Amino acid sequence: MTRPFLSLLDYTSEELEGLLDLARQMKLCPEAFRTACSGQTLAMIFQKPSLRTRVSFEVGIGELGGHGIYLGPTDIQLHRGETIADTARVLSRYADGIMARVFAHADVVALAENASVPVINGLSDLLHPCQVLADLLTIREKKGRLEGLTLAFVGDGNNMAHSLLNGGARFGMHVRVSHPAGYAPDVDVVAAARQAAAATGGSIHLTTDPREGVEGADVVYTDVWASMGQEKEAAERLARFRGFQVDAALMRLARPDAVFLHCLPAHRGEEVTGEVIDGPASVVFDEAENRLHAQKAIMARLMGSARARGPAW
Ligand code: CP
Ligand code: NVA
Repeated sequence: MTRPFLSLLDYTSEELEGLLDLARQMKLCPEAFRTACSGQTLAMIFQKPSLRTRVSFEVGIGELGGHGIYLGPTDIQLHRGETIADTARVLSRYADGIMARVFAHADVVALAENASVPVINGLSDLLHPCQVLADLLTIREKKGRLEGLTLAFVGDGNNMAHSLLNGGARFGMHVRVSHPAGYAPDVDVVAAARQAAAATGGSIHLTTDPREGVEGADVVYTDVWASMGQEKEAAERLARFRGFQVDAALMRLARPDAVFLHCLPAHRGEEVTGEVIDGPASVVFDEAENRLHAQKAIMARLMGSARARGPAW
């Protein structure tokens, strides 16, 4: 198994900082990296829909001199019973890297265990590390630093909350998650994030009061109330999450210079009002753009000519 990118906590703070620096260089001077993955192929497995992940990975590998192959839910034999292990072994004979969007996190772990090429987690039910690397790049660009900032995530204790806990902890941020009772982040993820935060001067705080969560925050973040795969729970969640909408009144409790982030897709009128997501504090389209730069850095480091550079790669 070559080194996969499954969770931000698999990487040290220094390694993540190196990825952010590389992503920033790639954003400022994309021409310098036109051959970083020359002739390489990224196989892209999608068990769920995607706009950003699919397009940014496919464009990104192209900009690095390689190409991507989109493998949708019914394109390959997984849905007909071919095992994850066999899929990983076969793809490793053709491709130089595998990006996968899955339901069960165990599936992307199994891909990585059986592949002889790097596997990148393009979202699982547990984590969304590529998104949060892009989020951290965005916050660093807007605020000039990460350490010491307070990030308030409002809503479901889901894959986004988990990766924000991981990433925030690695960078000494104060991460607050406010969630309805019964929708807290996973206890093991929180425990690991607390341990990581202890080493960087960060902190983790959970609350069921969104006002307490957002008070004085530098960054306010939310995500949909029903994630992909939870469609049947949507009506119940709509009722349970009322009161956790990020609206102008909630934003006023954050710092006056606070920025608003959302991984997208967004549901205006549910987790966020149009006034906030389309308003002056919102940086969601810079954030979406940064998926491209962050993931190019990941691919160049794991698969490409930048692999040899940087500590412990
Ligand atoms: N934020 C994100 O991952 O978007 P997609 O689901 O469109 O890829
Ligand atoms: N929590 C959302 C994130 C989408 C990018 C989901 O899993 O559907």
